[in-house]
Formats: sequence, C-alpha cells, structure tokens
Amino acid sequence: MTDQELIERARDAALRAYAPYSAFSVGCAIESVDGEVVTGANMENACYRLGVCAEQSALTAAQHIFGLDKVARIAVAGGDGSGAELSGDVVCTPCGGCRQAILEAAQLSGRDIAILCASGDGSALERHTIGELIPFGFGTVNLLEIK
Ligand code: THU
Repeated sequence: MTDQELIERARDAALRAYAPYSAFSVGCAIESVDGEVVTGANMENACYRLGVCAEQSALTAAQHIFGLDKVARIAVAGGDGSGAELSGDVVCTPCGGCRQAILEAAQLSGRDIAILCASGDGSALERHTIGELIPFGFGTVNLLEIK
C-alpha cells in the first residue's frame, strides 16, 4: 500500500470517530509487516478524560488482528469530520500518550515505526518515526532493570 493509500484509510476512519465534545475527528490506519491494515478513530465520553484517541483505538485492533510486534507503519489524520470527507489543513501528529503507546509496539519488535502525519484534507504530510517523536522514551527495559 502506498503512503497516500494508508493516509486515505486514516482519513476514512476519522469519519467514524465519535467526537461530539471536541468536534475534532482523528483517524488512524496501521499496517503490519505483512501488509494487513487495521483502523481506529477517537471515541469521546461525557466524562471527558475517558476519551480514547484514534491511535490507541487502532493499536488495540492491531494487537487483536496481527499482534503489536507486527506494526510497521502508521498513518494519522485529524480535522473536521462533519462533512462528506475529512477536512482541515493542519497536520495532526500523535499526542504524547499515543507516542508512548506506539513506542511499546516498537520496543516489542525492536523496529522503528514509520508515522505518516496528515492534515484532515490529506494535502499536507509530515513523515516521522516513533524514535524521532519520543526520544529517550520510558519502556520495558527500565522495568527489567529492577528485576
Ligand atoms: N486525539 C486523537 O485521537 N489522537 C491524537 O493523537 C490527538 C488527539 C483526539 C482526542 C480528542 O478526542 C480529540 O482528538 C481532541 O483532542
């Protein structure tokens, strides 16, 4: 799948977000090393802090379908999901909590993970890796040190 196709999957997933409080729809598409793709979107709650981000929603699906250790590439797109397609021209990068969740997958496999960050309308794109987005991250290795 091309980068643009994976971004389109993320943009499409954003249209199935449940985001009545922020009105900001985020979609995430995750591709496995074998080319399988799962998607997720943010799901908010009247108890605001219980909202789930798109990346964490898609990571849960990834674990269920092919395993966190198989995550190879992630696309994220966020914007206004009220129309027929996702809109907005500001690039959406994963929040800090989602970076930590993606780092878990990277540490599990020992591979860096490519992250395609797109604007809602898909016109703007930033390419990152999880290593760049969360340097000096906390992970399994820290916990193993005390055993
Ligand atoms: N959101 C995500 O789904 N992923 C991110 O990385 C950034 C923020 C969601 C959470 C909330 O539902 C809405 O966007 C506004 O913060």
